[in-house]
Amino acid sequence: MYLESLLLTLIALLSLLYVFLVWNIGHWRRRGICEPRALPLLGSFPNMVWPRRHFLNDMRDLYMQYRLTESYVGTYLVRAPKLLLLEPKLVNEVLVSAFRHFEHNDASRMIDTDKDRLVSCNPFVLDGDEWRLQRGIFSPLLTSGRIRNAYINMRRICGKLCAYIDQLSASGQPYNGMDLGLRFTSENLFDCVLGIEARSFTDAPLPVAEHNKAMSEDNYRLALAGALNGLFPQLPRCLRPKIIPPTYDRFFGDLLHEAFHLRRCKRQERNDFINHLLDMQREHQLSEAQLTSHAMTFMFDGLDTTSSTIAHCLLLLGRYPECQQRLWLELDKACAANELLPDFELLSELPYLSACLNESLRIYPAGGWASKTCTEPYTFHGSHHSGPLQMYPGDNVMIPIYGLHHDPNFYPEPQEFRPERFLNGGLKRFQQLGVFLGFGNGPRQCVGIRLGLTQTKAALAAIIRRYEVFVNGRTLDGIELDPFIFVGAHKGGIWLDLKPRPNGPKTVSVL
Ligand code: HEM
Ligand SMILES: *[C@@H]1O[C@H](CO)[C@@H](O)[C@H](O)[C@H]1NC(C)=O
Repeated sequence: MYLESLLLTLIALLSLLYVFLVWNIGHWRRRGICEPRALPLLGSFPNMVWPRRHFLNDMRDLYMQYRLTESYVGTYLVRAPKLLLLEPKLVNEVLVSAFRHFEHNDASRMIDTDKDRLVSCNPFVLDGDEWRLQRGIFSPLLTSGRIRNAYINMRRICGKLCAYIDQLSASGQPYNGMDLGLRFTSENLFDCVLGIEARSFTDAPLPVAEHNKAMSEDNYRLALAGALNGLFPQLPRCLRPKIIPPTYDRFFGDLLHEAFHLRRCKRQERNDFINHLLDMQREHQLSEAQLTSHAMTFMFDGLDTTSSTIAHCLLLLGRYPECQQRLWLELDKACAANELLPDFELLSELPYLSACLNESLRIYPAGGWASKTCTEPYTFHGSHHSGPLQMYPGDNVMIPIYGLHHDPNFYPEPQEFRPERFLNGGLKRFQQLGVFLGFGNGPRQCVGIRLGLTQTKAALAAIIRRYEVFVNGRTLDGIELDPFIFVGAHKGGIWLDLKPRPNGPKTVSVL
């Protein structure tokens, strides 16, 4: 008797769970939209839940399968309905021309800025007026004059990077590209922004670097937040979990407090971002917590993106020696003899270096998809559909950046690294088509684009000037993404051999 009722309860609970999981499925079909097969719990992107390969492959496959016949299809991320856009024209509307109707990032629903104060002013997680306000405060920090100033320090840190590479060469081990990128970027950002030496180029780094590595390498909290978002898309923000580990909050809260305090007492006029941040605080009457959050935007949005771009570009240059040679020649012409790097203006304008970087971001985009929420009613007119599609506030759209970047109709032989694609008006063509989204597009385009580009270019230029880059046999062939790294990264890691060039700059100044 007892067993029977237990069994009945269990069956009832399981049925309820099943109904819960399939409840939304059919949402898009009922609105007259083609709906590829979606499974309970796994949704339309099974690898998001059960990763055997990166889930961006699921999204790309759907994109490739339907893009010639549909402008959009209805999909489910776990169980949250998402309209997957397939036609670049519509992607452009959402990001640029009809931005007003799609202002919200999905991130803003996933993160409670009352719990995660370090991102309370971060434009990426804000919406509406608050987003406009904080982006408006942050973006004037990054003028080209200030980036030119920061470049003075960047050059010095490139010297330290080379010295570190030389020092490691004794071990005979292959270099870990991701690790080199992360060390360089964290040293650089802390120096430019806070005037703090993170000592990332030693075996015993300061806790700054350790905390950052831990944050970007094993963040189960972010995975949990993503899962909750998929299961309970309507969950109010106050019930969302905290994403940043408390130890991280404490560490950086104290560190920044100290850095601000020191700078205020000393009033030394070093021309780094911390001085500009302090001016900004006075001008906009920001609280200490807001000031801290603005400073942290550099670390949260600029660290992994930049370091991973450096590493992937090195991998591709190692695989395509003729491209590396062309880049080396371009750099050799631009640099004074024995100088590691060209001047700021020259570096910014080197066409082939820029093309290599963009082509690398095309193959391995730092943001492989984007998710936006409708904020004002909007009507799509897809070329593949006879009737319009009405979108309502709260509807979610997904932008398959990885799919667009790997579409052979726009990029023939998309798996091949061909920087030439971007030369001779290439970029303009891709931008008109709306199929290059390495930094996003429209009013929410990456606000740190110029700083990110400068840092990446400086590191690449220094390494290519001094070393010939080869791919070590430990690196897996192909361009498969690591299923367990949420932002796309080459599966199995990036292992490189760096051989000093006989004709490279002999000495590197590390002062
Ligand atoms: C190579 C390096 C970088 C790459 C590839 C990159 C890429 C991106 C992408 C794809 C987006 C999303 C755009 C969208 O939602 O549509 C973005 C947004 C953003 N990035 Fe970057 N980024 C880089 C460096 C940086 C740096 C150095 C900073 C900080 C100074 C930064 C700050 C931001 C911020 C604050 C946003 C959110 C903008 C908003 O929603 O208004 N990024 N970035
Ligand atoms: C690469 O992309 C950036 C950002 O979109 C752009 O400013 C630059 O001109 C591009 N370079 C080339 C060669 O396409």
